[in-house]
Amino acid sequence: MGLYKFKKINGEKVLIYDNMKIKVLIDEKKLRRRVRELGQEITRDYKDRDPVLVSVLRGSFIFIADICREIKIPVTFDFMAVSSYGNSKASSGIVRITKDLEFSIENKEVIIIEDIVDSGRTLNYLVKNLQARNPKNIEVCALLDKDVPRKTENKVKYKGFDIPNKFVVGYGLDFEEKYRNFPFIGYIENEQ
Ligand code: IMP
Ligand code: MG
Repeated sequence: MGLYKFKKINGEKVLIYDNMKIKVLIDEKKLRRRVRELGQEITRDYKDRDPVLVSVLRGSFIFIADICREIKIPVTFDFMAVSSYGNSKASSGIVRITKDLEFSIENKEVIIIEDIVDSGRTLNYLVKNLQARNPKNIEVCALLDKDVPRKTENKVKYKGFDIPNKFVVGYGLDFEEKYRNFPFIGYIENEQ
């Protein structure tokens, strides 16, 4: 227990916590800048269109809070929760809706706000599931796109960053429900 503390190791900022080394991959400034750009793109594309932002809990709660304030047109919100990982770092491949939308999306313009696309299975499932509810259209905005070989087609129209195939935490993303409140995206370097 204790505070999150950074150490400088070989000139690099590293957070040591719970016997884990966490390195910064995308810092706050870069996140802010890119999120602003994505918000501007969506603002431009959806002028006069009245979209609904569908956020996928829990991983995207910080991303949606930030990006929605960079979108300068009226939008509405709805939330879904899915679980695909259980509590480990390996995808189970099984996607389960643990909380469904509150409102109908029939005839609506939907923008899915996702934290990260890894295998793509969660997103694939979501798009299929929402498509069956007859929205006018669906686009996907994802903050992170992991560099992994994928069988599924890439559906992301608004993408924040391409990242290497590492397990990342922070800015909403967790490892065993922890580290979501880091203001940056970091990766777990090693577990001792
Ligand atoms: P996919 O179905 O394999 O694309 O996994 C997507 C979901 O797994 C995301 O919405 C995250 O909740 C979680 N996930 C995937 N990669 C990471 C990671 O590196 N850190 C934290 N969560 C991750
Ligand atoms: Mg998630």
